[in-house]
Amino acid sequence: MNLQTGPLERDDSSDSRKRLLPLGFVWGVSTSSYQIEGAEDADGRGPSVWDAFCRQPGRIANGDTGKIACDHYHRFAEDIALMRQLGVQAYRFSTAWPRLLPQGSGLPNEAGLAFYDRLIDGLLEAGIQPWLCLYHWDLPQALQDRGGWETRDIAGWYGDYAALVARRYGDRVRRFITFNEPSVFTLFGYGMAWHPPGLTDRSALHRAIHHVNLAHGAGVDAIRSIVPHAEIAAVHNVQPSRPVGTTPEDAAAARLLDAYWNRAFTEPQLLGRYPDELAPLMAPLVKPGDLERICRPVDWFGLNHSSPVYARADQAAPLGFAWADAPAGVRQSPIGWQFDPEAFRDTLLDLHRRYHLPIYVTENGAGAVETLDADGALDDRARVEFLHAYIGAMREAVANGADVRGYFVWSLLDNFEWGAGYANRFGLIHVDFATQRRTPKASAHWYARMIRADALETTI
Ligand code: FCB
Repeated sequence: MNLQTGPLERDDSSDSRKRLLPLGFVWGVSTSSYQIEGAEDADGRGPSVWDAFCRQPGRIANGDTGKIACDHYHRFAEDIALMRQLGVQAYRFSTAWPRLLPQGSGLPNEAGLAFYDRLIDGLLEAGIQPWLCLYHWDLPQALQDRGGWETRDIAGWYGDYAALVARRYGDRVRRFITFNEPSVFTLFGYGMAWHPPGLTDRSALHRAIHHVNLAHGAGVDAIRSIVPHAEIAAVHNVQPSRPVGTTPEDAAAARLLDAYWNRAFTEPQLLGRYPDELAPLMAPLVKPGDLERICRPVDWFGLNHSSPVYARADQAAPLGFAWADAPAGVRQSPIGWQFDPEAFRDTLLDLHRRYHLPIYVTENGAGAVETLDADGALDDRARVEFLHAYIGAMREAVANGADVRGYFVWSLLDNFEWGAGYANRFGLIHVDFATQRRTPKASAHWYARMIRADALETTI
């Protein structure tokens, strides 16, 4: 298979492609540990909160679990070869805390540490930069049993974990990410019961938010002190929050969702304060010096974005608002995510103005329910159209002044998509979960050609 040959699509030479990206722009792909690794019991890995959550009846579509997933733990070399074929310059992955510290703290697991040595070394040999995220939601169950994100002690446990990772990999890794989408795992885990620990408890949510923020600060300090040349960030999902109806109550619901979803972590971490809507609720938790501990200098902003989100008023809901589906009539993907590249462009411009940091788009992608055709291929035109439109919108944001320096597709592989299990596929590469066979989709071929064309454009 050669992903890099073949004619450019007509679209690739359209006006939006002509808008130049900065020199050294990074093209990449993203994954996360629990979603691809499998190898749940291999080599001393401890249990994670997702192992337990998946086993609770009714939590995950089809009763799916991450027990095997893409078996990336054993097949990482094949996956690196696929990335090389794509021509990506960077790979964003996460380390599994329970693989490195099976009890969450204390004695490290050498076999788990050695796995990421092999992965990082393999990436570097393939000329691909490793971008390492420390937390993509798979908390060690042992720490959950000690209070999880609800206990303030976790900031220290996380700081120790960050120091372990920095000491082990800091000689080869420069890009560190403290957290992936803190607002998703806190809101979904403590407010909506869609993620572990499966609660709908407003005060637990506020404790989790504050302790994740403190852990972020502790992580930044630990990494910085061990790897002085590190480029550190948190990755935030920022998506316009819209009311689903036209009532003032729905508008207020959308503002509150915006505070939890888009500002509960970015504002304390980057501006040193909680958003106005949340400040009075957080005040009882905030000790003197906490905001200084949280607001540590970072080097860039990681943005995950695929569509706007919607809220409606619901006085009976624990948070006073409910998550809502996009209204009928808006353009949506087959899995119900709104297609709105302009919202992506505007979000990039807005983040540039608010936080004055270089932005890397660390996730953007489209989900679908897909099967291989009779010839064993997959012509995922809708995904190509999505990526083309969103990359075009990013170029527009750059042309209008946004400092965007890289873009990572979610995701390299079809994988375990949390509550949706294996039903929703986001990969550029199709995975047959029965055989573990990988098949690049049309979008993989398109992305490889796009990266190649961009490289030619910048060398001219
Ligand atoms: C993001 C998550 C990622 C994946 C994509 C579809 O919110 O970070 O793990 O589930 O959505």
